[in-house]
Amino acid sequence: MNPDQQRMEKIVSLCKRRGFIFQSSEIYGGLNGCWDYGPLGVELKRNVKDYWWRVMVRERDDVVGMDGAILMSRAVWRASGHEETFTDPMVDCRTCKARLRADQIGEKKQCPSCGGKDLTEPRSFNLMFKTFVGATEDDDSVTYLRPETAQSIFVQFKNVLDTARKKLPFGIAQIGKAFRNEINPRNYIFRSREFEQMELEYFCRAEEGMKWLEYWKEQRLKFYENIGIGRDKLHVLTVPDADRAFYSKGTYDIEYDFPFGRQELEGVAYRTDYDLKQHQEASGKPLDYFDEETKQRFIPHVVEPSAGVDRTVLALLCNAYDEETVTDEKGKSETRIVMRFHPRMAPVKVGVFPLLKNNDQLVSKAREIVALLRPQMNVFYDETGAIGRRYRRQDEAGTPFGITVDFETLGEKDPALRDTVTLRERDSMRQERVKIGDLLQLLLARVS
Ligand code: GAP
Repeated sequence: MNPDQQRMEKIVSLCKRRGFIFQSSEIYGGLNGCWDYGPLGVELKRNVKDYWWRVMVRERDDVVGMDGAILMSRAVWRASGHEETFTDPMVDCRTCKARLRADQIGEKKQCPSCGGKDLTEPRSFNLMFKTFVGATEDDDSVTYLRPETAQSIFVQFKNVLDTARKKLPFGIAQIGKAFRNEINPRNYIFRSREFEQMELEYFCRAEEGMKWLEYWKEQRLKFYENIGIGRDKLHVLTVPDADRAFYSKGTYDIEYDFPFGRQELEGVAYRTDYDLKQHQEASGKPLDYFDEETKQRFIPHVVEPSAGVDRTVLALLCNAYDEETVTDEKGKSETRIVMRFHPRMAPVKVGVFPLLKNNDQLVSKAREIVALLRPQMNVFYDETGAIGRRYRRQDEAGTPFGITVDFETLGEKDPALRDTVTLRERDSMRQERVKIGDLLQLLLARVS
């Protein structure tokens, strides 16, 4: 196993051990391509979504949000082209019966599982999960679980425009589940069958499409930097003409260096007026925009930054994982595993520890601090085990700060230190003495 594979294995194992991510239906042997987020994972994921919503919607005048249903009329998927073209070409190996994506069999036309060469011709395989709405399972009741959140934005374009009273350029944002029956789900949560997307459809005039494409690429790069993924780990791929959707005038992929290689985190695509036109034509309902200045009606163009929540979570996990050798006061060395999350993303912001659990005064002071901080941030209270072990547990969870309530807090050694605590910083392990009254402000400035 090479070092990158080893690193990935360690990350997966920590995620299970510490309650970030579990295999779906694990006690029944698992369901391939589906994952459950545990207590720490759900906090991390929520922080990603909340920060995206904050910078993409709440902090902007030109973007509003929506939350569409996962199930939509089949007519949507016919008009968008998904029913006909959202497919992967597949090849079956007649020897071992494996079903493979045609682009994975390589030049030698050989099965990667058994090495066999008896392969079928490529056949199309639709990636949408089919389901039936209502009591009868006939052709009229067929629809699909949405494979992207974008389409409900397009089909609600007119309703949002009329109610939010926005003028071009403006965007509609959505975060939600999407489903794809991926042939080969792989690389942990990177390619799964159920995942979440954070999508913005930014509507503009045709002549400004390329300008907004550049603008959103830059904004999205800044987003990743602001959640702790350095620019040096990010790459922008200009998707070549041949690989772009036929209606797109330009697409960038924002990629990250995962341990299993450089892979797409997000696509930023200039989709022209294709989607609104398709839905206007198929539904017979106008989806145009009236420009009051020029008195013209036209279908707006759209630029779409489309990010994966799960892929961002995976990038954060890979980016944060670190091992270092530390030596204690007695000269004993050990390996410290630490998740160096940006404090803004960390699942738990601060651990609060009374030095001893059987001392009522220490415990009640620590409880007071928990009550002070909890309305503003996620706090973890821990009174069991040696203090060093408690710190290590929080290092593995990626908690950026630790507060210890000790006898100095009670003013037993020096009255000047009464109502002060030790504040430990995760990355440097440095400790400083801080007044309880200053804690909230000091921590809020560092975690929000
Ligand atoms: N509306 C455009 C769209 O859906 P996409 O490139 O197919 O474009 C956008 O998907 C993003 O959704 C990807 O960059 C990725 O982050 C995420 N994504 C797509 N398929 C995924 C899968 N099977 N598992 C996890 N994330 C996925």
